[in-house]
Amino acid sequence: MQKGDLVRALSGLPIPDIRFFETIGSTNDEGMAWAEAGAADGSLVVAEQQTKGRGRLGRSWVTNPDAALAFTLILRPTQAEMEHIGLFSPLAGLAVCLVLQGMGLPAEIKWPNDVLLARQKTCGILAESTWHGGQLQGVVVGVGINVAPSSIPPAEQLQFPATCVEDALGQPVDRAALLRDILAEFFAWREKLAAPEFFQAWEERLAFKGEVVELKNTENETVTGVLTGVDEQGNLRIHLTGGGVKLVSAGDVGLRPKKNFEGSGR
Ligand code: BTN
Repeated sequence: MQKGDLVRALSGLPIPDIRFFETIGSTNDEGMAWAEAGAADGSLVVAEQQTKGRGRLGRSWVTNPDAALAFTLILRPTQAEMEHIGLFSPLAGLAVCLVLQGMGLPAEIKWPNDVLLARQKTCGILAESTWHGGQLQGVVVGVGINVAPSSIPPAEQLQFPATCVEDALGQPVDRAALLRDILAEFFAWREKLAAPEFFQAWEERLAFKGEVVELKNTENETVTGVLTGVDEQGNLRIHLTGGGVKLVSAGDVGLRPKKNFEGSGR
């Protein structure tokens, strides 16, 4: 992908500025630095390769050259959005899921925001925020998508089975057009952030809904029960096997179906 293709593909979207890199450490690091230096809402960092890509929970994220999408969107939340900044990463997951479903693919959201294709991870999202004197300055939403087969890390580096968009589709994918479609969905659904339709759209696409899952939280405690949906804070609702309902916040780790407890999150 050339920067020119990207600029053309993204014209018409509310993106005031784009920084494009053939190789970078992490687009999120660049996005955080740019946000601190005053980047406007909607500014975008895109890289063809990351050498220090970061994932959730301190994990690394591999972005091999010319095979994936790795981008970070910088947001300056409005006053109304300030209440819901934790929903920006599910918003990005929803946007990716909707676009993949629109291509006829069996995409689902593994709460809180990973996107699966046929139950294998295809997209990971890392949202981070910058603060100044206790005041929120900006949120960066970093999205990594496995597009071509060479984007999938070797199995021994994976904690959850992974796939890519081209393997699911059976044909090559135009990455600039895919990015355009995802960002268009993101901006459209941003208008409905935290509205009932937003939670409904997210919940409808949740992987493992109605199935027994196990969740390990940061204290390594295991919660087992039927995954039934999300509440209006974005917490996952689990009907516990022993009775009662447990709400789990997104800081907790390691959601997986109980019947397939081999893998863990990439
Ligand atoms: C995860 O599943 O753990 C989240 C992975 C997030 C990866 C993306 S790739 C673009 C952006 N830059 C980073 O360093 N990380 C995110």
